Amino acid sequence: MKLDQLTKANEALQAAEKSINPRYRLGYHIMAPANWINDPNGLVQFRGEYHAFYQHHPYGVDWGPMHWGHVKSKDLVHWEHLPIALSPGDPCDREGCFSGSAVVNNGELNLIYTGHRFADEGKTVPDEVQCRAFSKDGIHFEKDVLNPVIPRHPDVGSGDFRDPKVWKHGDYWYLVAGTSRDKIGKVVLYKSSDLRHWDYQGVLAESDGAQGYMWECPDFYQLDGKYVLMFSPQGIEPSGDLYRNLYQTGYLVGDYDYETNTFKHGGFTELDHGHDFYAVQSFEDARGRRIAIGWMDMWESPMPEKNDGWAGALTLPRELHLDPDGKIRMTPVDELKQLRKKELVCIENELVSGSRLLPELNGELLEIMVEFDTADSAASEFGIKFRVGKTEETVIRYNSVAEKLVLDRSKSGQAVDGFRRTELTNSGRLKLHIYLDRSSVEVFADDGKAVMTSRIYPTEENRGTQLFATGGSVKVMKMRVWELEDIWNGQK
Ligand code: FRU
Repeated sequence: MKLDQLTKANEALQAAEKSINPRYRLGYHIMAPANWINDPNGLVQFRGEYHAFYQHHPYGVDWGPMHWGHVKSKDLVHWEHLPIALSPGDPCDREGCFSGSAVVNNGELNLIYTGHRFADEGKTVPDEVQCRAFSKDGIHFEKDVLNPVIPRHPDVGSGDFRDPKVWKHGDYWYLVAGTSRDKIGKVVLYKSSDLRHWDYQGVLAESDGAQGYMWECPDFYQLDGKYVLMFSPQGIEPSGDLYRNLYQTGYLVGDYDYETNTFKHGGFTELDHGHDFYAVQSFEDARGRRIAIGWMDMWESPMPEKNDGWAGALTLPRELHLDPDGKIRMTPVDELKQLRKKELVCIENELVSGSRLLPELNGELLEIMVEFDTADSAASEFGIKFRVGKTEETVIRYNSVAEKLVLDRSKSGQAVDGFRRTELTNSGRLKLHIYLDRSSVEVFADDGKAVMTSRIYPTEENRGTQLFATGGSVKVMKMRVWELEDIWNGQK
């Protein structure tokens, strides 16, 4: 990697930072200092610190030749920007350093990523390969002289061959990558003893014809006794409330045999039901937790923050567990409690009908935990509205008859629109755990049974919050709200 390319990219970024408009800048999510980001990459713990990388275009607010941006954290909450880790332009990654993962081997931090290239002058036929870079200090990376370490896609795939996720099992390294052939998305598996020489093992899973033409960002891991293949398929058709976003993110659960590379699994389940969740990646931390972070946006969404000199962010880190019914539960990691600054409101056993204003809640960065009694309530619909002004509001509502949870941003503010809705069984109680940031909302319902993540762009002064119920009253068992710390304060 030519050092001057990295220096140039870092300088461009520093210059771009100066003209950022802070109105939508997030307070406690990972973002680049300026300009474009998409997928999380290389989530890993190295020498006791958490590292996260991300797809990054340091020269502009739109997607462009991909670099790897870099942050690290001691606690998964407070992040610090580091210099850009990878820049494209070498023969193995001429057109971009696409998504990938990180592993620690012999004290070195290894990044395994996709070298994006085109096979033709017109740049229409991709010829993607897999590459390796490594670092002793976790900050400065060198590309492997053997690159590309996987020089060609397998015959069952095509030049759309990307997003390697690497892990260790026994004495070997394993790698899954997404690919596509004849409009069938699939995930292929490789094996290596040194991260540099890889042997093709076969297809791990593929679309049955209705599950997408290309599978991006695969991730394969053991979770609570089962194996999970998580990936981001392109091209699943919308069906009722499902698959409403341009592309999807979800998972298959099953049993896996390393000896024969057979993965017997059930059907595809969407992981997050909001508007903005894609390209999720996970890692196992030193405590044995499976933690996932996604890109908190969607391809081709309007992203009005582009007018402010930046675009894109990552979700909060979420801990994953598998329910006995084979569904993943996502909950915000425990460490996020450190963000709590001041408890603003605490309500217990109160009946709400119509609207109940909460004038104390006028912050932009809030954590809300609210538990409703749905067994003893006559209300057919109830919930919470925030960032409320004369004409704006973002609404989370539960319909206890239809048993559906809705995140409605049709009046949220600039540029974005529409609602997302998902099934959630009425168990007599509804627990909502909500993280509200300046331009995002993440809703974890019933301990992560349903999760909804969306970007919103409300007018700065619209900060009203209210509980509401229609068709009768609802009982609020308990509501607690905290104002949260802005981790980027001073270094937005
Ligand atoms: C997913 C994705 C990946 C690719 C990267 C390019 O959002 O399309 O498949 O590696 O983004 O930035």
